[in-house]
Amino acid sequence: MELTLAITGASGTIYAYRTLQLLAASGAVETINLIMSNIVPTVAQVEMNVNLREPTAEKINNWLGLAKDSKIIRFWRLDNLAAKPASGSNKQAGMIVVPCSMGTLGAIASGAGTNLIHRAADVCLKESRKLLLVPRETPFNAIHLENMLKLSRVGATILPASPSFYHQPKTIDDLVDHLCFRILDQFEIPHSRKTQWTGEEVK
Ligand SMILES: Cc1cc2nc3c(=O)[nH]c(=O)nc-3n(C[C@H](O)[C@H](O)[C@H](O)COP(=O)(O)O)c2cc1C
Repeated sequence: MELTLAITGASGTIYAYRTLQLLAASGAVETINLIMSNIVPTVAQVEMNVNLREPTAEKINNWLGLAKDSKIIRFWRLDNLAAKPASGSNKQAGMIVVPCSMGTLGAIASGAGTNLIHRAADVCLKESRKLLLVPRETPFNAIHLENMLKLSRVGATILPASPSFYHQPKTIDDLVDHLCFRILDQFEIPHSRKTQWTGEEVK
């Protein structure tokens, strides 16, 4: 499977980090087209104390703990509108935007995108491919809510970065991972943990 993952400047770089690691380890994904918005290095520095400025394949593999020469992540520059994910003729399973800022959400909803993330998302919608958006903002204003409704109506899946507690998380990693497993579930990508609620836990 080939898919695109975009990281934008909403809080929650760790969701992108873990989703990338889980996708790479799944055995089901051969290529991940990775795109980052310009503000991601700032947010990543604040939240994860990592330097993602001037990213290279080697730098990203190192961040994710992948082998130096791993080819699973293919990094594309944000201004490269000739990149593979910019064309509908490139067959792929779909796209994940995690975390998704309100700015990127609005640009995709408007249909008047200006960068590769917006274009790749637009391609998914026009080709009826899965577009999974993981918005992170609180509280939402009416513009955010209208944009999400608009995108949902044209086929995007809105999966908010809103962690659950029914699996009794003990650590932040437990919380983050559960959300990332739900992202993988959307693409039917196998992973090690149970995410399905069976009802057995209720006495
Ligand atoms: C540390 C930090 C945290 C942020 N958190 C959010 C957030 O949770 N949601 C959001 O929509 N924007 C957030 N922003 C603002 C976005 O980064 C900003 O709107 C930016 O223009 C989004 O650009 P992008 O969509 O191209 O990534 C945050 C910015 C910083 C520096």
